Amino acid sequence: MWSFTVFILINIVCLCNLIGNVRAEDFRAEVEHSTVSLQFEKGGVANIPCNISLLPLRDQVQAVIWYKGNAQHNPIPLYTFDVRDKALEDGEHWSDNKILGTRASFRYQDEPAKLVISNLKETDAGIYYCRIDFKSNPTLNFQVNVTVSVPPDKIILVDDTGEYVDKYVLGPYSEGDSFNITCIALGGRPKPNVTWWKENVIVDNVSEIATRKRVKNTLHLYNLTRENAHTTYTCQVSNNRNAPPLTSSITIDMYFQPLRAKLWGKQHILSAGNTYEISCEIIGSRPRPIISWWLDNIQLNSGKELSNSVNYTSTSFLTFKPSMDQHKKIITCKGTHPIFLNSTVEDTWKLNIYYKPFNVLTFDQAIDKNNVREGMDVMLHCNVKANPMIYTINWQYNGETIYNNLLADTIINNQTLLIKNISRVKHGNFTCTGTNLEGIGESNPIQLDIKYAPQCRPGQTKIYRTALHNRVEIRCELEANPKDVEFTWRFKYNDGNVVNLPENFITSESTSSTIYYSPSSEDDFPTLICSGKNRIGETEDMCIFHLLPLDLPEAPSNCKVTKQTESSLHVECIDEFNRGIRGEFIMEVYDAQTGKLVRNVTSKDPTFVVGELESGIGFDVDLYVLTKDGKSLVTHLPTFTLTNDYFNANLALLPSTTTLLGMLVGIVGVLILLAVIIVVTIRSRAPKSQNTSEDNGFRDSSGRYMSMRSNKLSSKTNSNDSCDSFDTET
Ligand SMILES: *[C@@H]1O[C@H](CO)[C@@H](O)[C@H](O)[C@H]1NC(C)=O
Ligand SMILES: *[C@@H]1O[C@H](CO)[C@@H](O)[C@H](O)[C@H]1NC(C)=O
Ligand SMILES: *[C@@H]1O[C@H](CO)[C@@H](O)[C@H](O)[C@H]1NC(C)=O
Ligand SMILES: *[C@@H]1O[C@H](CO)[C@@H](O)[C@H](O)[C@H]1NC(C)=O
Ligand SMILES: *[C@@H]1O[C@H](CO)[C@@H](O)[C@H](O)[C@H]1NC(C)=O
Ligand SMILES: *[C@@H]1O[C@H](CO)[C@@H](O)[C@H](O)[C@H]1NC(C)=O
Ligand SMILES: *[C@@H]1O[C@H](CO)[C@@H](O)[C@H](O)[C@H]1NC(C)=O
Ligand SMILES: *[C@@H]1O[C@H](CO)[C@@H](O)[C@H](O)[C@H]1NC(C)=O
Ligand SMILES: *[C@@H]1O[C@H](CO)[C@@H](O)[C@H](O)[C@H]1NC(C)=O
Ligand SMILES: *[C@@H]1O[C@H](CO)[C@@H](O)[C@H](O)[C@H]1NC(C)=O
Ligand SMILES: *[C@@H]1O[C@H](CO)[C@@H](O)[C@H](O)[C@H]1NC(C)=O
Ligand SMILES: *[C@@H]1O[C@H](CO)[C@@H](O)[C@H](O)[C@H]1NC(C)=O
Repeated sequence: MWSFTVFILINIVCLCNLIGNVRAEDFRAEVEHSTVSLQFEKGGVANIPCNISLLPLRDQVQAVIWYKGNAQHNPIPLYTFDVRDKALEDGEHWSDNKILGTRASFRYQDEPAKLVISNLKETDAGIYYCRIDFKSNPTLNFQVNVTVSVPPDKIILVDDTGEYVDKYVLGPYSEGDSFNITCIALGGRPKPNVTWWKENVIVDNVSEIATRKRVKNTLHLYNLTRENAHTTYTCQVSNNRNAPPLTSSITIDMYFQPLRAKLWGKQHILSAGNTYEISCEIIGSRPRPIISWWLDNIQLNSGKELSNSVNYTSTSFLTFKPSMDQHKKIITCKGTHPIFLNSTVEDTWKLNIYYKPFNVLTFDQAIDKNNVREGMDVMLHCNVKANPMIYTINWQYNGETIYNNLLADTIINNQTLLIKNISRVKHGNFTCTGTNLEGIGESNPIQLDIKYAPQCRPGQTKIYRTALHNRVEIRCELEANPKDVEFTWRFKYNDGNVVNLPENFITSESTSSTIYYSPSSEDDFPTLICSGKNRIGETEDMCIFHLLPLDLPEAPSNCKVTKQTESSLHVECIDEFNRGIRGEFIMEVYDAQTGKLVRNVTSKDPTFVVGELESGIGFDVDLYVLTKDGKSLVTHLPTFTLTNDYFNANLALLPSTTTLLGMLVGIVGVLILLAVIIVVTIRSRAPKSQNTSEDNGFRDSSGRYMSMRSNKLSSKTNSNDSCDSFDTET
């Protein structure tokens, strides 16, 4: 305690001495000259500088004394550093107990040297004087205005409506929106500055005093743009440059409307049937847009989508298989903001689709296709739809190319085919094909339905043979289109009579008609004429059928005895009618007297030889033809064998005298003439009998034939026997 008092006393003495060395005016002038203002935070540490190593004064420091207070009034010392006759490190420190106590220390070794006051109190604020005494130089004084600040308590953010903002992210806002946000600092002394910063740039430095304890700063954000998105605004509250500020930040979230749509590849030409992937980019939408695809007004199924959140670009890919119908249609890609549904951007693409020619074959308007008649001129049009333009058109009939043939009946004029004087055989398929870059396209086939009047169908049985009273079926086939044919049958008799068959005898169906007929008499073998009528007309080319009796061979003709001897006969016919016949010639030789069959000879040819006959008697020779169909009429030939005398006499007489010979020749000549006359008469009677038998028309009835022959035999015995066989001999 004692030593402490002594120490104070010494100090006071020293101070008095020191102060005494400097005049008050100088001191004040110097102090005023070099005031430094420093601010420190309450509770912190204040470093109050006092440069003890000022350059021009290379002098030994004796003491450093700190005062506090007003220069006008008596400043009271707070702290002393006494280094009189000592090294600095041995210097004595003294601190005013009431004010600073152990909180203060003088750090002479720092550059500059400083008084350090810790645990700073608000009452520590004030003007501090630092007096430096030197050994030889005058005293130096420094003056430091120390302020002690109280940091603000906290920051609050309030929006336009006065609500506290406790989120870090504000929004989302739309472009063009405006909003205010107010930063309020509570407490703090001196009053803090409230500033708004955008990143590192101050944007609003105007703070206003709201109430006694509040300072606020309102940040006005007008017409928000895309640039404002994700921007962080920071409110800084500070009342001490040396202390870190209190801060509070907000970030702005924004929605962007889509800016534009971009369809890629619009310049391309598409081929029908191929598959393409078309992409559409929607730029500038946040969040990602809804992308839709449209073909004219029909929505297509969306493809896969890719989105880039950095440049706000979304791309949609549409898998598209164009068809010919879609040529010139418009593909639209729309990007719609998911929130602002009315905010849509779009891009369109008028499709250019290449396709194979699509041909429709039609009849010329002037032609009633249901009424195409034979002989008409038919015009067909090939209506082509193609992209790109076709470069050729071809025409086909049943798949075979048709060539232009001006002279004939087909005339081709690019898209028109003219078939002149059409015939019913042209009922196949007509087609046209068009060719372009994409390929060949074939039209629908047109099958001509050519109407024509009924015609006789070729290749029918035209000759019917039947026996009397035998029912025969006669079938008539016509060709006609349309096929409903009304048939007419006519009978034309040999005498020129024509009779129409009554309808109830006719059985017709479509294009064929059948009748049944049985000839009742020999004259009842008419020619049948079948014709028909449809709505196009009547038959011109009719079917004519011949009804004939069963086909029996003709009786052998031109038969004569070519050689006769005592015991043999040679008979030969030159038969024109039965030449080449399949059958046999038969010769029956009867004894003319008894009517008894003497010989029955069969031959392939109408040439017969019979021997070993009785000489000098008459014979009836019957000649006929036998085929599988039956037996022909019979040709009768009466003859005889020579007598032995006749033969001998001729031999004896021939070598005698010429007169006798001449006489004999005359007699023989007369005899031959006589014989010829007889033969001619017989001959002329024979065909007559044949005719009668034909007239009766009973060829096929052998019973009747027999009775006819017996008639002949009786007449022959009467007239011919004597003449034929004996007159010649005598
Ligand atoms: C103290 O004074 C000396 C001499 O004039 C000078 O060199 C030095 O920079 C001063 N120090 C400060 C912190 O001002
Ligand atoms: C010291 O600083 C405070 C606050 O900056 C000021 O109000 C005061 O007038 C100053 N005193 C002197 C003497 O300059
Ligand atoms: C923001 O503050 C300005 C100025 O006080 C005011 O005119 C405006 O209406 C405020 N904006 C909103 C969105 O409240
Ligand atoms: C605010 O900043 C502007 C320039 O940015 C400046 O001119 C103005 O003096 C400052 N006001 C305050 C109170 O700091
Ligand atoms: C905001 O936009 C409106 C209209 O676009 C304009 O009149 C106004 O000046 C803008 N305000 C600011 C601060 O740019
Ligand atoms: C507060 O603002 C005033 C005026 O702009 C300025 O002089 C002072 O240094 C600022 N205080 C702080 C702690 O920034
Ligand atoms: C957006 O980014 C994607 C991927 O990086 C890129 O493919 C696309 O071209 C970009 N779009 C724009 C409009 O920059
Ligand atoms: C879109 O709709 C909103 C309301 O839902 C409306 O305010 C806005 O004006 C509309 N925008 C357009 C471009 O129609
Ligand atoms: C048909 O041919 C005529 C000339 O022969 C020509 O003028 C016309 O353009 C052709 N039509 C088509 C569709 O090719
Ligand atoms: C039409 O063709 C037929 C044969 O099909 C022929 O007889 C007739 O003379 C032709 N008519 C004309 C006018 O060429
Ligand atoms: C014509 O076409 C029809 C239908 O396509 C087909 O049934 C018919 O067989 C064809 N005729 C010919 C002769 O090719
Ligand atoms: C003669 O022969 C033929 C064939 O052999 C026979 O058909 C015919 O009945 C015979 N004539 C007589 C009268 O017997």
